Amino acid sequence: MNKSRLLFHVLGAVSIASAYTWPGQWDELEDIMYLQSGYNRRGFHDGVTPCSAFPQGGPGPHARHAAAEWVRTAFHDAITHNKETGTGGLDGSLLYETDRPENTGSIGFTDTFGFFHSFLNRRVSLADLIALGMFTAVKECGGPTVQFRAGRIDATEAGESGVPEPTTDIDATIAQFEKAGYTKEEMIAMVACGHTLGGVHGNDFPDIVGNSSAEAFPQFDSTTAKFDNVVVTEFLSGNTTNPLAAGPDATNSDQRVFVVDKNATMQSLADPDTFRSTCATVFERIIDTVPSAVTLSEPITPIEVKPRIQQFYLQDQSTLQLEGNIRVRTTERQAPDEAKMEYFDSNGNHCDTCTITAPIARFQGGMGIGFGEQFQFYEFNTNVAVGAISKFNVHFTANSDETHTNNGLGFPLETAILNQSPNSCLEQKDDGNGNWNLTAVAAVRNDRTNLPTWFEVTVKRFTEGIALPKLDIQKIEMARWKDAGSDSEYTLYSGSFPLPIDSWSTAYDLYNGEGDDVASVVNINSGQGACNDWTA
Ligand code: HEM
Ligand SMILES: *[C@@H]1O[C@H](CO)[C@@H](O)[C@H](O)[C@H]1NC(C)=O
Ligand SMILES: *[C@@H]1O[C@H](CO)[C@@H](O)[C@H](O)[C@H]1NC(C)=O
Ligand SMILES: *[C@@H]1O[C@H](CO)[C@@H](O)[C@H](O)[C@H]1NC(C)=O
Ligand SMILES: *[C@@H]1O[C@H](CO)[C@@H](O)[C@H](O)[C@H]1NC(C)=O
Repeated sequence: MNKSRLLFHVLGAVSIASAYTWPGQWDELEDIMYLQSGYNRRGFHDGVTPCSAFPQGGPGPHARHAAAEWVRTAFHDAITHNKETGTGGLDGSLLYETDRPENTGSIGFTDTFGFFHSFLNRRVSLADLIALGMFTAVKECGGPTVQFRAGRIDATEAGESGVPEPTTDIDATIAQFEKAGYTKEEMIAMVACGHTLGGVHGNDFPDIVGNSSAEAFPQFDSTTAKFDNVVVTEFLSGNTTNPLAAGPDATNSDQRVFVVDKNATMQSLADPDTFRSTCATVFERIIDTVPSAVTLSEPITPIEVKPRIQQFYLQDQSTLQLEGNIRVRTTERQAPDEAKMEYFDSNGNHCDTCTITAPIARFQGGMGIGFGEQFQFYEFNTNVAVGAISKFNVHFTANSDETHTNNGLGFPLETAILNQSPNSCLEQKDDGNGNWNLTAVAAVRNDRTNLPTWFEVTVKRFTEGIALPKLDIQKIEMARWKDAGSDSEYTLYSGSFPLPIDSWSTAYDLYNGEGDDVASVVNINSGQGACNDWTA
C-alpha cells in the first residue's frame, strides 16, 4: 500500500468514527457532562460548585475542598495500573481500597463516590464518573478542558496497591509512576497539576501538618481554589508553603519529585499557558489509564440535535402517546422559535400533514447550559395512530433553515416494544422479605409475539463499609397479559420482580427478540405506586 492510499484510509476511518448517530451509547454521559443548569439539568457540577467549596457539608466552615477530592480520587484510582499485565488503572477499584494506608484521607474518596451514586447505572460506570469528575472539577476551578472519553468498566474488587506516599523514597516513587506507564516528566507535571488544588489535613497527616485537628488544612499554594501554576512559581521562588515541599524532610515528597530533572519541568510549568496545556495532557493520561481490556470511545463532544423520548406507549388499542423533547445546541446558532418533527410511517412514507410542531419548553425558558455550551429545548406531547410513525427528521430555522436527518436514517422510534408506563408500577408494600413488587408491562407488536420478551432490572447490592452498591442485573421473563384490543396490532406483556427496598431508586430495560434482532427500551424508572389496569 503506498503512502497516499494509507493516508486516505486513515482519514476515511476517522470521519466514519466521528459521525454521531442517535441514539448513541454515551448519550446519558453527554447530558451529565453538559447539562449543568437550567432545563433538564443533571447538576453533576453541584458537587464541586463553587470550586472552593465543600457543598455536601452545607453551610458553615469546612476544611474540605470537594474539587480537590475529585481530582485526587482519579489519581489514586489510576496510579495502581500495571502496564505490564494491563490490569488496574481507572476502573473504580479504589471503592474497595479505601482502608489502605496509601489511601489515608479516604473520606474524600467515599464522599466523592457518595455524590456519584445517583448518576451510577448500568450504562454509566463509576470509573467513567471518576473520569468525568476530573473534567468537571478542573473546569469548575477555571482550569483547562480535559478531554473526556467514555467506556471504562468497573472493577468488582480491590486491585494492586501502589499509590506513592509522602514517605516513599524518590526511586520507589519514580518506579511506581513508571509501572503505571508514566515518565519522570509526566510524574512531575502530574504532581504539580494535582497539587494546585487542596492541601493536607491535620487529622490524616498530623506529622506533616503539626496539628491533628481536622480543621487544620494547610494548602499546597496560596491560591488553592484556583487551577493555576502558583504551586509551581512559589516553589521556584523558594517561598512555598506547600506542606509536602516545605514540611518535615521525611515527608517532603513534592520537593523530591519537583527536583528530579533539576527543575526543568517545573521551570517550563512556570509559564501559565504551558502549565494549562500540560495539565490537560497529563490529566487525560491519568483518566485514560485503563485496563488493557477496555476500549475508550472517541472524545465526547456536545451533540447538535438530540431527541429524548419520555413516553411512548399504547394509549388505547389504536393510538400511541408520544412525549418528550428535542435538544438543539445553540452555542453556535440562534435558538429556533420551534422545532418540527417530520415523521414517516411504518412503511417509510412521509405525508404532507405528518409533522409535529414542538414549541420552546416553558420551564426555565427551555434553556440548558454547562461549561460554555448552550442548548434550547422543544417539547412535544401528542397522539399518533399506531403505524403512522416510525422515525422523524428534525427541521427548524436558526441562522438558516436546517433539516437534521440523523445521517439519513431519521431519528428512529422503537415500535416493536413499548413501555406501558401507566400499567407498570412499583407497589410499595413489603413482602415480608424487604422487597417491594416491581411490575413491568410492555406492548409487543404482534409480528414479534413469537419472540422472547423480558425485562432486566438493575438491583443495587449494598455492602457494609463500601460507599456504593454493586449493580446486579436480574433478567425476568414476561408473559402475555392481555390483548390490547380485538383490532390492535399489539399484545400486552407483564412481569413482576421482588425488588429490594433499598434498591428502589433504580432502572430497568425492556427487551423483545433474539440473536442480533433485539428491540429494547432502556433506562426506565419505576414510577407510580399502583398499576393501572388495561381495558380494551
Ligand atoms: C508522589 C505522588 C503524590 C503524593 C505522595 C501525594 C500525597 C498527597 C497527600 C499526603 C495529600 C493530602 C491528603 C489529605 O490530607 O487529604 C495529597 C492531597 C492531594 N493530592 Fe496528592 N500526592 C501525590 C500525587 C498527586 C497527583 C499526581 C495528583 C493529581 C493528579 C494529586 C492530587 C491531590 C489533590 C487534588 C490533593 C488535595 C486533596 C484535598 O484537598 O482534599 N496528588 N496528596
Ligand atoms: C490546630 O488547628 C486548629 C484548626 O485550625 C486551630 O484552631 C488550633 O489552634 C491549632 N492548634 C495548634 C496547636 O496550632
Ligand atoms: C530547584 O528549585 C528549588 C527552589 O527554587 C531550588 O532550591 C533548587 O536548588 C533547584 N534545584 C536545581 C537543581 O536547580
Ligand atoms: C513569593 O515570592 C514571589 C517572588 O519573590 C512573590 O511574587 C510572591 O508574592 C511570594 N509569595 C508569597 C506567598 O509570599
Ligand atoms: C406483584 O404484582 C403483580 C401484578 O399486579 C401480581 O400479579 C403479583 O401477584 C404481585 N406479586 C406479589 C408477590 O405480590
